[in-house]
Amino acid sequence: MYILGIESSCDETAASVSLDGVNILSSVVSTQIEEHKKYGGVVPEIASRRHCENILDVVDEAIRKSGLTLEDMDAVAVTHAPGLIGALLVGVNFAKGLCLASGKPLVPVHHLTGHIASNYIAHHDLKPPYLCLVASGGHSHIVEVLDYTKFRIIGRTRDDAAGECFDKCARALGFPYPGGVYIDKASADGNPDTYPLPHPKVAGSEYDFSFSGLKTAVINKVHNAQQKGENICCNDMAASVQKTISEILVVKTIAAAKAYGYKKIALAGGVSANSGVRNALSKACAENGFEVFMPPRELCGDNGAMIACQGYFNFINGIRADSSLNAAATLSIEKPL
Ligand code: KG4
Ligand code: ZN
Repeated sequence: MYILGIESSCDETAASVSLDGVNILSSVVSTQIEEHKKYGGVVPEIASRRHCENILDVVDEAIRKSGLTLEDMDAVAVTHAPGLIGALLVGVNFAKGLCLASGKPLVPVHHLTGHIASNYIAHHDLKPPYLCLVASGGHSHIVEVLDYTKFRIIGRTRDDAAGECFDKCARALGFPYPGGVYIDKASADGNPDTYPLPHPKVAGSEYDFSFSGLKTAVINKVHNAQQKGENICCNDMAASVQKTISEILVVKTIAAAKAYGYKKIALAGGVSANSGVRNALSKACAENGFEVFMPPRELCGDNGAMIACQGYFNFINGIRADSSLNAAATLSIEKPL
């Protein structure tokens, strides 16, 4: 079964064709990062305009590279939520137009379920149920993947997402947007024990996260040092931030897996590219006898392949949309439609 997947929820216009979800025949990603870098973050209106300009070429290229035609597709899957509303609307309306013109079924995909599905592409042996740590620029969740289209959140962030925390700490250290990857690189040459940083306690739920205290602590340390004319060692601070975020994410995920009886743990979302998080989760899983799954780095960020993959599972489970499909800036993964 051939699925065309379309993604435009943030600053990547992406499309992909998959065979039975997990075999990727083509994947095209057009990123706008260089343009948003100038402003220190994604400018929503610019993102929407670039999606408008790029989407036709990106989709066309994805179909062409797959060696197939639109006629060969069994369905068109599109990210409809969550994300920047103006950005999502471009992909949703483009997909609706394609379906209207071609008569193909339209399949809505929740962006975070797409991130989770990137694991099926890399690990054909992974099957639900399992526990997934989803950490991106906008979300940090511990999710029970009960089935391919059924999810339950057991932990969430109360404030900033892990990716947001990486990016804001990176900004305080003078790195460009999005700073997560710069923290990752600088960490390789830093001592993670140089700057002790807080591990926030979250009242009420053992599995919820809070990253705003950590972010504030880093910003304060950097600014105080600047005011006193002292030097902060950038690599050491980056390594300390990465170690702390990794510990917070992994400790809670392992605790949740034990409490809920999961022995398979997956990682997903943009932050899953982070070496510290990957290493800490792999180590903790090995120590506890858990199986661990993570996407290859090229599938960690936003891409069309993960949408084509989850689109396939949605499609074979009867999930469809009609021409009334709308985009939504926020939508729970527990009710992904
Ligand atoms: O999933 P994603 O591409 O977009 C959203 O759906 O939000 O995630 C983007 C986030 C950004 O905060 C980015 O800095 C972070 O993922 N990120 C990283 C790394 N690569 C991307 N954070 C830490 N280390 C990385 N190597
Ligand atoms: Zn994403």
